[in-house]
Amino acid sequence: MKQLVFTIRSNEPLNDQNHLLKVAPSDNTPLPLMLPGQFVQILVENAPHTFLRRPISINNHDPEKNEIWLLVQVVGEGTRKICEMKCGDQLNMLLPLGNSFTIPSAPGHFLLVGGGVGTAPMHFLGKILKENGFTCDFLLGGASEMNILQRSEFEQIGTLYCTTEDGSLGEKGFVTHHSLLQNKVYDFIYSCGPKPMMVAVARYAKERGIGCEVSLENLMACGFGACLCCVEKTTRGNVCACTEGPVFDINELRWLD
Ligand SMILES: Cc1cc2nc3c(=O)[nH]c(=O)nc-3n(C[C@H](O)[C@H](O)[C@H](O)COP(=O)(O)OP(=O)(O)OC[C@H]3O[C@@H](n4cnc5c(N)ncnc54)[C@H](O)[C@@H]3O)c2cc1C
Ligand code: FES
Repeated sequence: MKQLVFTIRSNEPLNDQNHLLKVAPSDNTPLPLMLPGQFVQILVENAPHTFLRRPISINNHDPEKNEIWLLVQVVGEGTRKICEMKCGDQLNMLLPLGNSFTIPSAPGHFLLVGGGVGTAPMHFLGKILKENGFTCDFLLGGASEMNILQRSEFEQIGTLYCTTEDGSLGEKGFVTHHSLLQNKVYDFIYSCGPKPMMVAVARYAKERGIGCEVSLENLMACGFGACLCCVEKTTRGNVCACTEGPVFDINELRWLD
């Protein structure tokens, strides 16, 4: 884990709630190795109520540009301050934190399911799977078309399927209702998004004996195992989601007990 100061190279609003920030170390220090599923902890400066850093997934690591991408949804003061930052502003971050998704050891059919801003780590994972010679399908869900983010980026690395609750893009309904799940057999499923969505994905996978990993977004304060505010019940007992996760095999979680 390193603490580095980054300079914002671009801050692009993707809709009225979500921004894509591209950032690089201010002193050009080469970025450490980063794995899909890992996250950063951002210090939000000049905000009286955001003493704790905010955890944000690594959306992409571009080693050639020595740059990382962060997809941020405004939900409160911390994320609002981050999204208001301008090109050239500086951001203090701890990284990389947490474990990572498992990269398969054999060819197969892989499905990456994301909901809302939970699609952020699915993009980095899909890119790494492609670089390792695997092809994957993405199944992304949101309330409406404007909530399905980075579509062209996903289409460059795999086949994209969508669901929206209002039917404005893809099939109408939730991701777990998509016809793909009835028509195609997968060897492994990865997922990140709202907990009810991940529980439904985990249930689908478990009922069919498909391996599945999910990335949790438990409340986190320190991000490195010191405060115990992110504890998750598992078959190994209570563990910190920030260090033992955020990625868990669904068979380790007590969600479906
Ligand atoms: C491992 C991990 C990866 C994440 N990746 C992303 C990402 O890529 N993009 C993104 O937009 N968001 C991501 N989040 C969620 C993001 O951290 C929270 O939305 C953010 O911390 C809220 O801060 P705030 O000051 O804007 O809101 P607050 O005013 O603090 O709270 C607003 C809402 O956000 C929830 N929240 C507050 N703090 C946290 C926290 N530390 N962790 C989780 N939820 C919190 C609260 O329960 C509340 O519902 C991730 C969370 C985790 C744990
Ligand atoms: S966030 Fe502090 S222990 Fe996990």
